[in-house]
Amino acid sequence: MTEPKRIAPAKKVANIKYAVRDILSVAAEAQEKGLEMLYLNVGDPNIFDYKTPEIIVEAVSRALRDNKNGYAPSDGIPEALLAIRNNAEAAGIANIQDVYIANGCSEGIEIALSALCNEGENILTPSPGYPLYTALVSKLSLEMNPYFLDEGNGWQPDLSDMAERINDKTRAIVLINPNNPTGSVCTADTLRGVIELAKRHNLLIIADEIYGELTLDGARHIPLASLDHEAAILTFDGLSKAFLAPGLRVGWGVLSGREDLLRDYKGAVAQLCRARLSSNHPEQYAIKPCLSDKSHLPALREKVQKRRDITVEMLNAIQGITCVAPKGAFYAFPSLDVPAESEQEFIADMIRATGVVVVHGGGFGQRPGTSHFRVVFLPPEEILTRAYTKIGDYLSENL
Ligand SMILES: Cc1ncc(COP(=O)(O)O)c(C=O)c1O
Repeated sequence: MTEPKRIAPAKKVANIKYAVRDILSVAAEAQEKGLEMLYLNVGDPNIFDYKTPEIIVEAVSRALRDNKNGYAPSDGIPEALLAIRNNAEAAGIANIQDVYIANGCSEGIEIALSALCNEGENILTPSPGYPLYTALVSKLSLEMNPYFLDEGNGWQPDLSDMAERINDKTRAIVLINPNNPTGSVCTADTLRGVIELAKRHNLLIIADEIYGELTLDGARHIPLASLDHEAAILTFDGLSKAFLAPGLRVGWGVLSGREDLLRDYKGAVAQLCRARLSSNHPEQYAIKPCLSDKSHLPALREKVQKRRDITVEMLNAIQGITCVAPKGAFYAFPSLDVPAESEQEFIADMIRATGVVVVHGGGFGQRPGTSHFRVVFLPPEEILTRAYTKIGDYLSENL
């Protein structure tokens, strides 16, 4: 018998960080001290005063009662695929080559990148951006290739930075619009610039538009794929955010562009969908009804808008903080006047001292030498007001 050895995890896992949840170990220290905890770290509406629309609950309950619990077709149930296609076409997307449903956009994006990239290749990811993408870069043994968003320009993607970073191993550009964590919404010019670069270099664009229905200040979200019907674009959306049902784990991808250029890639995506049998089945019955009844959206936007207004006003009144007003989603990414090297520790100390849980900017990527943090402004006004007051008091004592 050989000596038993510890089971070694894969080395690449060490690089996979998810600051939004990793921060909870710091929060636990504050909780142990008996502080009132104010969680502004997770973009989950359902832990606050938002409720999944009844039509979703009804559709899923009915599917469960009707015994729709077998495996679904690997790409998704036909009625939902058709509803997604019609919804995308109504938003101006044409030349749709494929639609597939996944266990959240998270799985859909993982399938998309797994079907695309070989080890050692790279994808351009937004910095700041949602950490799923950098986690997948590690998981798929790709090279990191972040491009910056420009804070001085309302956090629009910096197109010249993007252009400079494209090399012969680049396979895709990821665009998160509206963005997490900055809440910025891309202008038509920015979108056209991204499409032009992608076409020039033969790249797939991953258009993560999960917050597309959640714009503020009357800002207009333009679906990237509506601007060009030839470019290779995979647009993601789902039920987690605007439809207030993240726990259902329903997301989808819509592949559009020239058929001849996308044929092989579409086959690879379908192969990976089959390899995991199917995504959640009963939950898919919610897709058609909720894409045809978005009546909850105006009230939702109005509620989030009020919370956004308090956020921008109160944070900008704090010395040491400057906050670009988000135009979409439910995140703000204010800059913090502390040296970049001490950002993470400063935020951790602030959480320990105040019980207000925010996430340090480094968890999303940012320009070297800058410091930020992300707040989720979903909570009710009185919680936000208390949280920002505590942050203000802490900064006035510690900056
Ligand atoms: C930009 C972005 N993309 C994707 C996701 C994940 O979505 P899903 O719940 O559909 O997996 C999130 C979740 O916060 C997100 O912020």
